Amino acid sequence: MEKVHEYYQFILPLVIEAGKVMKNVVEVKTELKNNDYGDIVTQYDRQIEEVLIRKIKDRYPTHCHIAEEEMSTKDEKPNLTDEPTWIIDPIDGTANFARGIAFTCVSVGLTINKEQVLGVVLNPYLDELFTAIKGEGAFLNGTRIFTSGCKDINTSTMNYEITIARNEKYYDLYMYRFKHLIKTVAGILAMGSAVMGLCYVACGKTDAYQCDGLYPWDAAAGTLIVREAGGFVSDSSGEEFDLMNPNFLATASEELCQQYLEVEGNADEEREQCLREGKEYMP
Ligand SMILES: *[C@@H]1O[C@H](CO)[C@@H](O)[C@H](O)[C@H]1NC(C)=O
Ligand SMILES: *[C@@H]1O[C@H](CO)[C@@H](O)[C@H](O)[C@H]1NC(C)=O
Ligand SMILES: *[C@@H]1O[C@H](CO)[C@@H](O)[C@H](O)[C@H]1NC(C)=O
Repeated sequence: MEKVHEYYQFILPLVIEAGKVMKNVVEVKTELKNNDYGDIVTQYDRQIEEVLIRKIKDRYPTHCHIAEEEMSTKDEKPNLTDEPTWIIDPIDGTANFARGIAFTCVSVGLTINKEQVLGVVLNPYLDELFTAIKGEGAFLNGTRIFTSGCKDINTSTMNYEITIARNEKYYDLYMYRFKHLIKTVAGILAMGSAVMGLCYVACGKTDAYQCDGLYPWDAAAGTLIVREAGGFVSDSSGEEFDLMNPNFLATASEELCQQYLEVEGNADEEREQCLREGKEYMP
């Protein structure tokens, strides 16, 4: 674990530098990415990622990295190895960033022996620095944070990334789940940044976060921060969470996770039955 502290001291100033680049933007030029989500990329995503990777390579030439913009140019999915692997999202919530909405961040996670050991997330607009080292708790600006501890789905507020339904593969899944969730939970938000969404569960501002079909860089830092804050992370199907294929349900407590899995399970069953009968989603 000593090494992990060294890595933390190394990466923190780099993330703070990246946050300054985000904050000092002049003009954001957006391009549509080649995926099914309508995701966009800006010149700043590329700039921040290149600098982070270059500095990591200079200091730790044997370490691996998995980073959003670099991977988007490759067809093959990366494989996680036992080597220390830096998993980077230079700007999460790019659509928010491009519109000047302050719910966006830099995210860097680290795995060693395929295990998540370090997460650093900085929202430079709100000055929110979320950090976690495995086994040592989660922190906001250096102060220990905990989830809300919520154990009742009926009173819970969730962050549900309904935009995922733009992707045909998730349309029915997300619409059926929405129908069941909206009748159960106290409130639903769609905040547009997976990493910030996870961090807001960790610090108790929301009780649950749900998003399917994401990428390792959306999850590597944030899911560790949720767990270290006392929260729970599951695959939304109820299977064990898989960092390399994240479909995550992150909740304030394990009890709450079970309740969400039950409601979403009912929705998934209804969907499967309708699909068997050849019906598309109908409200
Ligand atoms: C990942 O592993 C699979 C199975 O071993 C292999 O087919 C694939 O080429 C690997 N991908 C990369 C990017 O190395
Ligand atoms: C975190 O620290 C920064 C810098 O000291 C401060 O501006 C900001 O308000 C703090 N944020 C929170 C949530 O305490
Ligand atoms: C939530 O409300 C439903 C319907 O009223 C009820 O059956 C369930 O027990 C409640 N859940 C909790 C955890 O209180």
